[in-house]
Amino acid sequence: MTIPTHTPLADSPLDLLLLSIVTERTGIVVPPHQKERFRLLVAEGCRKLATTLEGYIAALTTSGRDHPVFRHLVEGITINETYFFRDETQIAFLRDVWLPHIIHRRGTGEQPTLQVWSAASSSGEELYTIAMLLHDLLGETLNQWTLRLMGTDIDDDALAKAQRGVYTNWSFRCTPEKDRDRHFQPVQDGFAVCPALKALTTFQHLNLVTDSFPVVTRDLWNCDLILCRNVFIYFSQDVVRRVLAKLAESLVPEGILLLGASDGVSDEAPGLALCHHGNAFYFMRAESALHSPVSPKRPARTVAPRPRGVPRAPAAGASSGGCDRSGGRGNDRGHTQGAAPRHSPGRRRARRFRHRMERHYGRSCPCAARSPEPPDGRHHSG
Ligand SMILES: C[S@@+](CC[C@H](N)C(=O)[O-])C[C@H]1O[C@@H](n2cnc3c(N)ncnc32)[C@H](O)[C@@H]1O
Repeated sequence: MTIPTHTPLADSPLDLLLLSIVTERTGIVVPPHQKERFRLLVAEGCRKLATTLEGYIAALTTSGRDHPVFRHLVEGITINETYFFRDETQIAFLRDVWLPHIIHRRGTGEQPTLQVWSAASSSGEELYTIAMLLHDLLGETLNQWTLRLMGTDIDDDALAKAQRGVYTNWSFRCTPEKDRDRHFQPVQDGFAVCPALKALTTFQHLNLVTDSFPVVTRDLWNCDLILCRNVFIYFSQDVVRRVLAKLAESLVPEGILLLGASDGVSDEAPGLALCHHGNAFYFMRAESALHSPVSPKRPARTVAPRPRGVPRAPAAGASSGGCDRSGGRGNDRGHTQGAAPRHSPGRRRARRFRHRMERHYGRSCPCAARSPEPPDGRHHSG
């Protein structure tokens, strides 16, 4: 069957089947206003791969991740928007609070280790940002550490870009020039990440929805820090819940999970407790949040002075400020995956999350930006 390109995608049984297979295999829910675009993508796939719609659907149902139909779909449906130092509030929290804390605690050990996983890493900017922070914080002691920095994504093209490590100015739009020049070398088509940072990172294919994890053999377990930012906004709530449960199991006790500001996940995530430091929200494995001094209790309603060097944080649940004024989604808008409609489940969840935060903490977070000391005893959950 060939698909006429002039009629809007009606929700015929085949269309519904196709959309449900997409969600089943990738987690991505195609919002109503993106169906036309999605339909054009499928038509293009049928044309390019010389197959019928039935053939396309059959391949999508049964094929592995390397099949051209699946690859074409993933490439067309995912939004890879990302950049270095995305979300100023979270980066400040990692740089000034959490990483110094963990370095202080582990650094005195014989063979200190740190395991970081950028799940949905796209083209790698997120993971390389962590590598830059660690490089600067550890200085000459870097070589004493075993650092495992893993990046995973469903999109092989994005992973190939991450592995190559060459970026254009667009990726550096929130990176101070001096940092770019310290960690990257100019090449013909942009800036190449320096070999020392590249050597710290590994990128591999992983589908958050259908692949199993934690998985020891792939170093996707026992993580101290997981970043899974700006991907849940495209998933159904049911899928988010399932993925969150697997991510929770992939953390060490006291390990933390950062989501994107717009991911709009309920604060009642399974196995996880919501905590925050200032306006940086994160999840911690529930049992460790209960038993550790980093307790998820409600903050006192006092406003602490903002220390030097810690940027002012935006209102709870709002845009993460700085360059990320879109609420964490950057330029994701307008693409199949990125344009969450005003009333999409993702947005509704984000609104509910924001309201809950505001009910707990008021419009501006009361303990915003305390001094950049170890987080013990200073974290609170909603
Ligand atoms: C908007 S980017 C976010 C990149 C980065 N985490 C950030 O916040 O800047 C979303 C990424 O999620 C990936 N993605 C979508 N569905 C996925 C899935 N089921 N498993 C793994 N990655 C997925 C896409 O390929 C894309 O690279």
